[in-house]
Amino acid sequence: MPLRWYKDVSNSRHAAHLSHDEPPAAPHARTQAPYLSIRHPMDKPYSPSSERNRTPILTVLQQHLTRRLNLLEIGSGTGQHAVYFAAAMPHLRWQTSDVAQNLPGIQQWLDEAALSNTPAPLALDVSLPLAAEVLQTRYDAVYTANTLHIMSWEEVQHLFAALPMLLTENALLIIYGPFNYKGKFTSESNAQFDASLRSTQPHRGIRDFEAVEALALTAGLRLLEDVSMPANNRCLIWRKMSVGEALGARVVRPDAEPPGATAA
Ligand SMILES: C[S@@+](CC[C@H](N)C(=O)[O-])C[C@H]1O[C@@H](n2cnc3c(N)ncnc32)[C@H](O)[C@@H]1O
Repeated sequence: MPLRWYKDVSNSRHAAHLSHDEPPAAPHARTQAPYLSIRHPMDKPYSPSSERNRTPILTVLQQHLTRRLNLLEIGSGTGQHAVYFAAAMPHLRWQTSDVAQNLPGIQQWLDEAALSNTPAPLALDVSLPLAAEVLQTRYDAVYTANTLHIMSWEEVQHLFAALPMLLTENALLIIYGPFNYKGKFTSESNAQFDASLRSTQPHRGIRDFEAVEALALTAGLRLLEDVSMPANNRCLIWRKMSVGEALGARVVRPDAEPPGATAA
């Protein structure tokens, strides 16, 4: 079976499957391993990191998605997360999406799993206007993993700008991946990962939680939870506010407690 560096085969900025979930088996492996994506024995695209992080991610998803029915995944990559999560949550329609060139690989995973709750993947590139096919459904959950550090910051902004067109009121947005806080890396391995990303693709890099949170607020989302995940990753969960809530969230009320104030 052919092995390949998935990032480099198509020589496209979109083809990368870069996460920093790989365990550093050797001192140099931290920077090398995340770039490797190989072919699955069934000749499907295969991401080893997806296998490693799927169980802790599923634990978080199951806490939030029990009453959700219609989820859109952005940047589904190989499609491995989709088939694993959709099999574990059969009540949920799991709609995969990615840039067009990744759809055949995702379809291979969907075909093999043959689940009833995984429709054909949609072409969705956040840097482009949303296609009618994407806009015809509103979702009560959107999930994306290991994408914000791969997209340019402009693309991240486009992603959040599109959310109001995709989400129902009270919908959840769930984002998994590495984040910086107050401009600082949360670990040395994250700092190295960021440097390795930027060395080849300067528009990539670990995003600041505060900047992403500002985009979320503008999109009418309220942060529900920020969960610590293995390998210095986070799982961030927001809920789409009603119009009234969103207005209130932006207004500084005169009786509001100053930041850091504690109840007596
Ligand atoms: C590191 S991979 C993560 C794949 C998968 N979510 C996972 O966790 O294994 C990053 C994904 O983001 C997608 N991506 C990058 N730029 C994108 C864009 N502008 N619009 C939509 N997806 C994009 C890539 O095609 C790729 O599938």
